[in-house]
Amino acid sequence: MIRNVLRMGDPRLLEKAQPVTAFNTPELKQLLADMRETMDHLDGAGLAAPQIGVGLRVVVFGFEANARYPDATPVPYSVLINPQLIPLSDETEEGWEGCLSLPGLRGVVPRWKHLRYSGWDAEGHLFEREVEGFHARVVQHECDHLEGILYPMRIKDLRSFGFVEELSERQQTE
Ligand code: NI
Repeated sequence: MIRNVLRMGDPRLLEKAQPVTAFNTPELKQLLADMRETMDHLDGAGLAAPQIGVGLRVVVFGFEANARYPDATPVPYSVLINPQLIPLSDETEEGWEGCLSLPGLRGVVPRWKHLRYSGWDAEGHLFEREVEGFHARVVQHECDHLEGILYPMRIKDLRSFGFVEELSERQQTE
C-alpha cells in the first residue's frame, strides 16, 4: 500500500527510531512492502520508516535508473534494518540531495566518502557492505532519518539549498 510521506515540520520526523526486535513477522513484511511501493511510486532513491510515521530502524534504498538522480550510479535495491555505519576514512565529499519529506527541494550536503555499513535484511540475515560515492551518500541520508536528522540540518552553506525548478543546471551538476 502506498503510504503518506510526512513532510519536514512534522515532529515525528525528529524522533529517534527504535530497533526492530522481531524479524519475519507479517507486520515487518507489510512495512517493507509498503515502503518499497511508496518509494517506487514517488521515484525516490530511498525511504526510512519514520517518513511514513513508523518509528522503527528500517530503511530501504536503491534504484536502476532514477529520474530524480540521472547521473547517479545504480544502487541495488536494499533493505537495511538496525543499521550500523562506520566511516572508513576522514574523507568527506559534498553532493546534491533531495528528500521525499521536502518535495521539490535540493541541497548540497557533506557526507563521508567511504563507508562500511551492516544490518539485517528482509529475511533477518546480517550483512555488511563497503561502499563509496552516491551509494554511501544514500545510506547516510536514510540512516540520518533514524536519528531524527533531515538533510537541511547538515547543509553548510544555505546558498546551495533551494527549489529544483529554480536552481540552475550548473549548480545541480557541479
Ligand atoms: Ni530523506
